[in-house]
Amino acid sequence: MSVLTPLFDEHRLILRVTDAFERYLKQLPTESDEVRQDLHRFVTFFREFVDLSHHEKEETVLMPAMVKAGCDWESEDFEHLRKDHNQERYLMRVIRQAASQRGLWTGEDLRHLKSVGQELVDFMRAHVDLENRKIYPVAMELLQGERGAMVTEAFEDFERVRRSHGYDGFLSELAEELVRDYSGESAP
Ligand SMILES: [Fe+2]
Ligand SMILES: [Fe+2]
Repeated sequence: MSVLTPLFDEHRLILRVTDAFERYLKQLPTESDEVRQDLHRFVTFFREFVDLSHHEKEETVLMPAMVKAGCDWESEDFEHLRKDHNQERYLMRVIRQAASQRGLWTGEDLRHLKSVGQELVDFMRAHVDLENRKIYPVAMELLQGERGAMVTEAFEDFERVRRSHGYDGFLSELAEELVRDYSGESAP
């Protein structure tokens, strides 16, 4: 098991929920309470798992550890990564607004939601691919031995704090439910 195994696992989960979200968007015919509720469920996952947990670990643990091991914080790849995370936050803000909108969605609202949602889907796949191909392999090379152990410990501390804030298993369960509801897969 590598120091990056937990993050690779999270990428796989993120991609499965992203596939489910794409299916949700394709099935978005009209407004209904259930459709709106399910958008809130996706928003919760993308915001609280992808942004506040996964990206946060990358930005506060992984990237600083890589810099300590010799990577350049200002490098093109890191700059790209930070820009991507901000772009994801922007797209999520737009989708959150749609989920929280007062009153019924109009045809135009639905079209807008579909288009921004698909942007998020495409973006998420490209972002995960970039990290899997370019960033994580460098991290695995650099973060071995003592350095790797420190990063693993930092990830564990991060999860401990998250659990103490009530996130114990809830988001993974939500992810599996969304995948089951929108991908025809059954929960493990
Ligand atoms: Fe990322
Ligand atoms: Fe990532």
